[in-house]
Amino acid sequence: MRGLKDKVVVLTGGAGGIGRATAGRLAEEGARVAILDLNGEGAATAAAEIGNGAIGIGLDISDQQAVIAAVARVEAEVGPISGLVNNAGWDKMMPFLKSDAELWRRIVDVNLFGPVNVTHAVLTLMAERGEGRIVSIASDAGRVGSSAEAVYSYCKGGVIAFMKTLAREHARQGINCNSVCPGPTDTQLFRDFDPGGKLAAALERAVPMRRVGKPEDYPGMVAFLLSDDAAFITGQVISVSGGLTMSG
Ligand SMILES: NC(=O)c1ccc[n+]([C@@H]2O[C@H](COP(=O)([O-])OP(=O)(O)OC[C@H]3O[C@@H](n4cnc5c(N)ncnc54)[C@H](O)[C@@H]3O)[C@@H](O)[C@H]2O)c1
Repeated sequence: MRGLKDKVVVLTGGAGGIGRATAGRLAEEGARVAILDLNGEGAATAAAEIGNGAIGIGLDISDQQAVIAAVARVEAEVGPISGLVNNAGWDKMMPFLKSDAELWRRIVDVNLFGPVNVTHAVLTLMAERGEGRIVSIASDAGRVGSSAEAVYSYCKGGVIAFMKTLAREHARQGINCNSVCPGPTDTQLFRDFDPGGKLAAALERAVPMRRVGKPEDYPGMVAFLLSDDAAFITGQVISVSGGLTMSG
């Protein structure tokens, strides 16, 4: 893909799942990736595996000061950041009326304040330089809802609206902001919801392509949106979910 060679990309949640697969693909395309993850050891291992000058930094994206320090470290050690993938996310499935404020706060901290913290730190630099690409991994839950994921869905809908608004505010500065929405995907996050595999079996029947997603289903779309080929695409929401949702 055009324009990814030597691009410095910050990617959150790259120690596992969709983020790990995406970090690997971006490095293959020549990008230098900084992986920010709660699992610092996993981030360092992933960075060593993908190579091409990647680094791993352990932090919680809901901690704004830690995010600001990490972004400064990436600029100093890797170079000027021109791409951001907001991928880290977390949820615990539970009917809304059974959930409590402690769970809501954690879900909002990670899935809403996390991308806001990282985007604010990175976009500040992109705006000064008049160049940048931001891709947020939202969810089909944010487009069409998802039972037992009310607060998570509210956050992911918020991420989609956040990207659209920043796309409008920064279009003339050459900064593109888009969202990618996975459907149910076989990662640790999903396995924690569904240890017996019953939900996955039901979803396989519901997905037109008759399977749940794999981490490898997403990196191509993310790499494309970060590339020069997507220069005229901004404020868009793209579902990658085997046809499960076909939003207008
Ligand atoms: N798996 C699915 O079914 C599915 C469906 C739709 C959307 N998504 C979204 O895709 C993204 C990736 O999810 P995944 O399925 O690969 O999950 P995963 O649990 O396999 O990986 C998530 C990564 O994010 C990191 N992380 C979690 N909280 C963090 C925090 N506060 N600070 C920094 N890092 C943190 C984890 O350590 C982990 O490495 C998430 O935004 C998730 O909401 C997943």
